[in-house]
Amino acid sequence: MCGIVGYIGEKNSIPILIEGLKRLEYRGYDSAGIGVISNERKETRVIKSLGKVSLLEDKVEQTSIDASSLGIAHTRWATHGEPSVVNAHPHFNKEETLYLVHNGIIENHTEIKAKLSKDGYEFVSETDTEVLVHLFDSLMKKGNSLLKSVQIGLSEVRGTYGISVISKNEPDKIVVAKKGSPLVIGIGDGEHYVASDVNALIGHTSRCVYLDDGEIVEITKDKFVASTIDDKDIKKEVHEISVELDKISKGDYPHYMLKEIFEQVNSVRDSFRGRILMSEGTAKLGGIERIAERLANSKRLLLSACGTSWHAGLVGEYMLEQFTGIPVEVDYASEFRYRNPIVDRNDSMFFISQSGETADTLAAMKEAKRRDALILGLCNVVGSTIARESEAGVYVHAGPEIGVASTKAFTSQLVVFALISVLIGRKRHLSLIDGQEILRELEALPKKIEKILKLNDQIEAIAEKFVDAKNFLYLGRGYNFPVALEGALKMKEISYIHAEGYPAAEMKHGPIALIDENMPVVFIAPKDSVYDKVITNIEEVKARKGKIIAIASENDNEIDKLVDYSIKIPDTIRMLMPILSVIPLQLLAYHVAVKRGLNVDQPRNLAKSVTVE
Ligand code: M6R
Repeated sequence: MCGIVGYIGEKNSIPILIEGLKRLEYRGYDSAGIGVISNERKETRVIKSLGKVSLLEDKVEQTSIDASSLGIAHTRWATHGEPSVVNAHPHFNKEETLYLVHNGIIENHTEIKAKLSKDGYEFVSETDTEVLVHLFDSLMKKGNSLLKSVQIGLSEVRGTYGISVISKNEPDKIVVAKKGSPLVIGIGDGEHYVASDVNALIGHTSRCVYLDDGEIVEITKDKFVASTIDDKDIKKEVHEISVELDKISKGDYPHYMLKEIFEQVNSVRDSFRGRILMSEGTAKLGGIERIAERLANSKRLLLSACGTSWHAGLVGEYMLEQFTGIPVEVDYASEFRYRNPIVDRNDSMFFISQSGETADTLAAMKEAKRRDALILGLCNVVGSTIARESEAGVYVHAGPEIGVASTKAFTSQLVVFALISVLIGRKRHLSLIDGQEILRELEALPKKIEKILKLNDQIEAIAEKFVDAKNFLYLGRGYNFPVALEGALKMKEISYIHAEGYPAAEMKHGPIALIDENMPVVFIAPKDSVYDKVITNIEEVKARKGKIIAIASENDNEIDKLVDYSIKIPDTIRMLMPILSVIPLQLLAYHVAVKRGLNVDQPRNLAKSVTVE
């Protein structure tokens, strides 16, 4: 949440900052701003705008600004204070000599504000962030350098932050610090970049340094010096960025979401590529090789995540229990630490996160670490905090996912769970033949996904009929119950239509009361072992005149007699079915939202990575 960009070097920083903000806009998009220091006169200049980065860009283009090779910028997702120009970042002191951008939450901002107010500081915004700029200003006025002021100031701060600060009094540096919110430094030739994630660095440099919690860095154009906030020198490792520019562009697609849905032919393949050992009927997952025995001997496997990643965890639970025989539990990461979870060193705990930055998932991970569980990350973003702070893990390799609604990351997470199930299963009692069957079915998925994507026009036509729906119900059983939850989440987050997912059999315990001729009900009903039971539930809805859309097997002609619309997809083994059955639901939500005239890539109130608790 919130995107930060910074630049110091020889180039004009303004286009770099605007471009960087556009690439980070998925992190927040209610307002944006830039703050720069001019090259010649060393004057500060701030421009802020309500709304999207493009509006800020328009404002910047209409303003004459001196060339500036030092600047910071921010795109906001509001926590404290409504979206407005005054609450937008950068925040600055009264004399406008100090600019600051922040991602995170300052928990003790009220106390700090009270103290600073007594010293005569006036606050103009409703944000928690503004206290930081006045706090650092007060320390600079006592004769401290910018670096020292930030260092001393942060020792008083409780909460989370990724910050970038520049000062007119030291116009040759950016000071950055991190605790709980991501920050990365891009290393160029005679220039440095700062960003919330590597997407903003792609095309500028291929070398970067990830900051860890409790670190502060002073960056000039030629070097950076890192230390801890309590002033111990540290050496940072330089990483290579392997993502290419075309991977983060929309190409010819109208939206990132549609591009990412269509990319699943390849992203699913990328998730198992090089990881299948067919002759041994097992998987090769380098990131967990070292601890694979401990994993296979775990007393329990615990999975924790939020949102779509939590739904992937639910499917993972079915797979792992079926093929490893180890008890599995799935937790909302956002709830995990609000009870007294029974977790110990005999448990292995997976933290599933596309971004690898979700604050709730990170907090759950810290709690599990305290309880000595084996900590594993299952992330998409390479170098993300969860990936770096886990003892071992598996990257899902879906490639950059920019659309706020997660699509390809979900199917790739499921592929990885299938691989992990085979790997652990083979170390226990999964037979060679059964292992090989799963792997062969995995390899067959991309072709089947291609077939499903050809149904796009049919799904768009179905979507047309439901543009004005007020509610949706999604029902599925077994492996397809989490798919019902995921289908409903996709629908509500981008179309703003109320939607609920339920286990199909639960319908008669309450939700059936909602069904009348105005209620669209989506059944995930492939021909599997629970098919007959799902058909009974379809009959129950039909008897109450609900409008039925069924995701069914391609050879199922009988179902057409019962339902209003059927979307026929290829079959696979039960455990892999969610990877196929979710795709029509992604497309259905997409088309309904587009037809309602909504911005599917940036739905209201949401952000791609939720870095506040
Ligand atoms: O990056 P993460 O996977 O940790 O994100 C978790 C959720 O915030 C995320 O899945 C969210 O629910 C998406 N908007 C769903 O489309």
